[in-house]
Amino acid sequence: MNIALLGFGTVGSHFYEMAGEHSELNVTTVLSRRPRPELKCTVTADFDEIVRDRSIDTVVEVMGGVEPAYAYVSAALRAGKHVVTANKQLMCAHYDDLLALARQNRVSLRCTAAAGGGIPWLTSLSRVEKMDTVDAVEGILNGTTNYMLSAMTNKGTDYAAILKEAQALGYAEADPTADVEGYDARRKIVLSANLAFGVSIPEEDVPCVGISHITSADIEKAKELGLTFKLIARAQKDGDRVAAFVCPTLFPVTAPEAHTDGTGNLVSLYAKRVGKQSFSGAGAGGFPTASNVIADCMEVLAGCGSYYTDKARPCAVDNSGAMARWFFRRNGEYLFFGDYTVAQAFEVYRGYLADDPNALMARVAAERRKK
Ligand SMILES: NC(=O)c1ccc[n+]([C@@H]2O[C@H](COP(=O)([O-])OP(=O)(O)OC[C@H]3O[C@@H](n4cnc5c(N)ncnc54)[C@H](OP(=O)(O)O)[C@@H]3O)[C@@H](O)[C@H]2O)c1
Repeated sequence: MNIALLGFGTVGSHFYEMAGEHSELNVTTVLSRRPRPELKCTVTADFDEIVRDRSIDTVVEVMGGVEPAYAYVSAALRAGKHVVTANKQLMCAHYDDLLALARQNRVSLRCTAAAGGGIPWLTSLSRVEKMDTVDAVEGILNGTTNYMLSAMTNKGTDYAAILKEAQALGYAEADPTADVEGYDARRKIVLSANLAFGVSIPEEDVPCVGISHITSADIEKAKELGLTFKLIARAQKDGDRVAAFVCPTLFPVTAPEAHTDGTGNLVSLYAKRVGKQSFSGAGAGGFPTASNVIADCMEVLAGCGSYYTDKARPCAVDNSGAMARWFFRRNGEYLFFGDYTVAQAFEVYRGYLADDPNALMARVAAERRKK
């Protein structure tokens, strides 16, 4: 396999190093905006050179962002090159058309590292989806917020201090919005739901509440109740209806989710015959993420099909049927509600925010133990 590597940052540089250990993966060209004299392969800043080079059969895109990644990936697919990407933003924004382009041009398009980083989540989900009916997918899909919530719970660190620490450690970006407001987790659940249910749901359809309103007092309140906060993204299917949402969720302290600490991810599928299957591990990081990119390249070499599924029925998110229990804080007062639909709960929360801009919303994953 002759590979052009687009992007030489955290994932790209680790991919390059790992590919060097596999004789069948030959990185012939790196697209880079700056000179990289240390690299033995061709380095170019001109993507057209890569498209024109007929000896390159596979493009690995690890630049991130929607543009120019979309233009480059589309051009590569049109030129009959396989594409492997770790870019959830790109895959969420252009799921249908990229899948269609891959199909039309009879090439592979894979993105296992885009959800779950180093965990082979999408490939495992695809295996189960092929022989069973997946009813729901959910999990801790953002390592940054999990690191922050773990420290707030286990060490009593407050939100502002732990955000600063996460930024200093490189876990959170200078602009942490995508992580702390849940948008990163949302993209990953959209990709998971698309694959699990054979649909294509618009990212902006999925209501999303992050962790930025959780205070030390909320953490203490949860502890009093025997519960732990986690940021959970969930999607479920009921007939033709697909529900999906992201919000803080309270788990009993004995639940596996409550014990997933630090930057770890834990994601589960619920299927009719195999029941619950959970996958945990490093949701980010150079080597873990690059490992999934390498594994995707090997799957392409092995002749694995286009994406993991050919099914992508356009589908609006419908949260009017999914029931859950809910926990709110408004003007310092804690409130529990049982059996509201997801749509109702988000509606109630919008009303609370109008009254108290710091109001909190969380789902209760299981029966609370005491009032
Ligand atoms: N890091 C992780 O743990 C992780 C986990 C899962 C998925 N991902 C995904 O993997 C992708 C890459 O992430 P990363 O953490 O490796 O990012 P990163 O460290 O910021 O690296 C991005 C690289 O892409 C290059 N780049 C950006 N725009 C470019 C352009 N227009 N032309 C040429 N090169 C360009 C950058 O070059 P310059 O140096 O010139 O800016 C840099 O080398 C993203 O889609 C991310 O969501 C990352």
